[in-house]
Order: sequence, then structure tokens, then C-alpha cells
Amino acid sequence: MGRVLSGIQPTGNLHLGNYLGAIKNWLTMQQLHECLYCIVDLHAITVFQNPAELLKSTRETAAAFIACGIDPKKSAIFNQSAVPEHSELAWILNCHTPLGWLNRMTQFKEKAGKHRENAVLGLYAYPVLMAADILIYKATHVPVGEDQKQHLELARDIAGAFNRAYGREFFPQPEPLILGEATRVMSLRDGTKKMSKSDPSDQSRIALTDDADAIANKFKKAKTDMEPGITYDEEKRPEVANLLRIFAALSGRPRAEIEKEFANSGFGQFKPALAELAITKLAPITAEMRRLMADPGYIDSVLRDGAERARAIATSHMNEVKDMVGMLRV
Ligand code: TYM
Repeated sequence: MGRVLSGIQPTGNLHLGNYLGAIKNWLTMQQLHECLYCIVDLHAITVFQNPAELLKSTRETAAAFIACGIDPKKSAIFNQSAVPEHSELAWILNCHTPLGWLNRMTQFKEKAGKHRENAVLGLYAYPVLMAADILIYKATHVPVGEDQKQHLELARDIAGAFNRAYGREFFPQPEPLILGEATRVMSLRDGTKKMSKSDPSDQSRIALTDDADAIANKFKKAKTDMEPGITYDEEKRPEVANLLRIFAALSGRPRAEIEKEFANSGFGQFKPALAELAITKLAPITAEMRRLMADPGYIDSVLRDGAERARAIATSHMNEVKDMVGMLRV
């Protein structure tokens, strides 16, 4: 029995990419493993967040987890800043992470853009905090979308560096779990860009809070091409390939089967079928999220309980780390 940890930033509405790439896989994990699901508010502030929005978004993300089927009695749901050991371990790991490793991180390069000198230190150190999130629990499995692969590799390297420095196999090597038909959901406006919360166009993503009309409308307007039929070709038809993957992931059927079913159809048939499928799957989640958001007291009690359970594990590991490093505990 391993231990599972994963996280999501509370920065605006969760979208179909977060659901299919991450949360959907978290559900299956909780049957087999001890699971910790973290709302990473410390990561969120690597880009400035309006404080009131951050608070709201933290509760909304917890509501989304529960509405998607994460059972707070089985899995610990908590926000990162409520367990200070994440930051504490991150500092120690900072002292074992060569700058050269961080310089390779593509997410930093993308987010810092041309103005690297103005980028904040937190954005640069982001992957080390992520390693701490995982290692503080000695998590063995980390279910994520494809975009987090490089950060997971770094977490493994940092675990190895720490273990070597103190001559003990203390941290296990965390395994990334990148599962399902839609590990990289693309924008509905551009099949070469990933679906993202930070895309300025709301039309580019399906949010978990979108109602049926919005979902139908977004799929109707989704970018496609002039080719006949619905065929899977990632290179030549990235938008259609993305829609086929979304269909497969939402329906739980193999992609090839969907391709066969719609091979001779036009978008006039395929898009409404996809919209209907998405609405059927997402409407109960949206409704449950709304119901939960009306009861912030309950959400806070779930987060409090989750943080307590997480903290019990984190403090004991942190004490061991301090002993290994040679820090006086009085
Ligand atoms: P974040 O908040 O960007 O995304 C949360 C999860 O959703 C997945 N995801 C996607 N999957 C498929 N297609 C997409 N378009 C898409 N967009 C997002 C992400 O891969 C992720 O699994 N750094 C992380 C949060 C984090 C974390 C951790 C994750 C912090 N500490 C420890 C795992 C373990 C992030 O920014 O995710």
C-alpha cells in the first residue's frame, strides 16, 4: 500500500483539463491507497492573487474535489498553508537543489517570459516547494497531468540528493501516474495550446462551473478544420484529436471506438454528441458544487479535519528530517 499525494492551485475555476488529467484519476486512487489532496495556495501566490479571490477560490476548489467524488472521510483534503511543514521542508530542500536543475524547468521559462529579471523568487523556487509537498508525506504515487512530468522528475532528483547527502534512503522516489485518454487536454480555440486557467479566452476551456448552455455553446464554437469525417491525427488535425480524446475520457470508452463510430459523421453530429456527453457528466458536479458552496462552514470543517490528518504525518517526518540534518529540537 503506497501513499498518494496530489495538488491543484486555487486560481480561478477548475476546468475539464484539471478534471480529466488529475481529479478523475484521484477518485480511483482512493479505493486502493491512503490519499492526500492538497489545495496549493502557497504555489498560487507565485503570481499575485487578490486576497478575497484566493480565499473564495480555495473553498471553491475544496467544493469541486468533493463534488467530483473525493470522499473527505477517506482522503485528506486540505490547503497547503495550513500545514506549515511544507514550507519548512521546502527550505531544507532548497539547500540541496543546484540552480542548474531549476534552470531547466520549462514552466518557469514560460511563466517568466521575456522579463526574467523581474520574475519573483517564489516562481523560480516553485518546483522545490512542489517536491516538499510530496516528500513531506513520503508519498509514493503522484497522479498528475502530463504538464507536471518535469516537476515530478525534479522531485525524484531532489529526494535522491537529500538521501545521498545524509547517507540514508529516507525519501522514497515518488512515481508520477499520468493516466487516461486525456492527460493533456488542449484549448478549444487552439489545438496546440494546453487548456489553462490563465488563457484570457473563456471560450478556450470548459469550467466545472459552466452551465449546460455554456458547455453546448463552447463545443459548438470549438475550432476544427475543413477535412471530411472525424479522424484522429495529432499532427494534421490537433483540434479534432483533442475533441476525440475528450470524448473517450468522458465516456470511459477507448478512443479508437469513438473514432470508428464517428468516422463518417460531420461536426454537425459529433459536436452535439460530445456536448451532450459533457453536460451529462458535468451537470451533477456543478450542481453539487453550488450546494456545497452555500455551506462554507461545512467546507471549512472538511479542510480543518484534512489539515489535522495531514499534519500528523508531516510533523513526524519533519522531526526525522531535523534530526538527520542536525537541528536542535528543544
Ligand atoms: P495545476 O493547478 O496547474 O493543475 C492541477 C492538475 O491538473 C492537471 N492539468 C491538466 N491535465 C490535463 N490537461 C490540461 N490541460 C491540464 N491542466 C492542468 C495538472 O497536470 C495537475 O495534475 N504544480 C501543480 C500543483 C502542485 C502539485 C503538487 C501537483 C503543487 N504541488 C504536488 C502534484 C503534487 C500545478 O500547478 O497544477
